[in-house]
Amino acid sequence: MNISIAVLPGDGIGVEVIKAAMRVVDDIARRFGHKITADYADVGWAAIDKYGTALPAETRQVCLASQAIFFGAVGLPDRDKTLPQAQRPERVALLELRKGLFANLRHVVLPPGLADRCPLKNELIKNGIDIMIIRELTGGLYYGQPQGIQGRAPDRTAVDTMAYSEHEIRRILKVGFETARKRKKKLLSVDKANILATSQLWRETATAMSKDYPDIQLEHIYVDNASMQLLRRASEFDVIVTENTFGDILSDEASMLAGSIGLVPSACLGEPDAHGKYAVPFYEPIHGSAPDIAGLNKANPVGSILTAAMMLRYTFGLAAEANAIEKATFAVLNEGRVLTGDLGGTASCSAVADAVIAAIRS
Ligand code: IPM
Ligand code: MG
Repeated sequence: MNISIAVLPGDGIGVEVIKAAMRVVDDIARRFGHKITADYADVGWAAIDKYGTALPAETRQVCLASQAIFFGAVGLPDRDKTLPQAQRPERVALLELRKGLFANLRHVVLPPGLADRCPLKNELIKNGIDIMIIRELTGGLYYGQPQGIQGRAPDRTAVDTMAYSEHEIRRILKVGFETARKRKKKLLSVDKANILATSQLWRETATAMSKDYPDIQLEHIYVDNASMQLLRRASEFDVIVTENTFGDILSDEASMLAGSIGLVPSACLGEPDAHGKYAVPFYEPIHGSAPDIAGLNKANPVGSILTAAMMLRYTFGLAAEANAIEKATFAVLNEGRVLTGDLGGTASCSAVADAVIAAIRS
């Protein structure tokens, strides 16, 4: 199969983790007889320094011509501060490339061999942790209008708007129900229906839709309670579906349960619009650019390697290839010999990629 991907390493450790993950992708492609066309493009500060903008036309072009975008990280806090918010890489590049991709899948798995890296007590995690968080990504507070600051200091006011249409709610819940069907047939819908109108509509819609999914057990939970239960009984969580901001917060919380935020992959997926046009699916590890360790070959590439596996599975339908990468990666993590600093080890970023490649071969 021919696979064409836009590779956007971006800033900080984005560069080294994507490089490591691409070595794994190339190895898998060779093994399974696929031809990869990887077009590299600049994004974030790497692009601002060259083109004056975090998402240059050249980069957009490369993305539009590809079947998937493989993205590292953007933003360097010290330099971001020098720009107005609207010009910062996370707005100009990240949110822009995610446009139209309403379903953000974040997969949190604790490798059993890393149980002591999880902040929860052993008795709470003995049944394992494997949670798929489905976060709505194109609505809610991030985009609702009006948004802004008005008036004069010290009497200014600020407003953000949380808005959801039934259509937006239905299409993300559908991803939730269908994902649950492929896993344990349990769907946990997270809202704040005791207070928010958007959540009332969300809960009503989920309840109505569940009639079409009689095989799925739907449960509702308030977001504050969910954040507490995640620490109390993490093993019982399976598929979570929620709106944008709740998903942003819960997924950072949940990532700690995997042992390190450096282990968690994600996919941003859309569906064809009225004209049959697709936004190009976007794949990124959920960690940031970590400038303090950038360029030192110390970053954990596992989040990116597992993100590449998600890309092969969801965009290219290559389940065997994705499984092979995941199996090898978890074997390396469980064995515990080749681990980066965030997991208490001393291995380099490239050594972890080497170990994963060796495990694929074995
Ligand atoms: C994430 C990040 C982004 C978000 C920021 C950088 C805009 O926190 O991917 O979770 O809020 O979506
Ligand atoms: Mg976040």
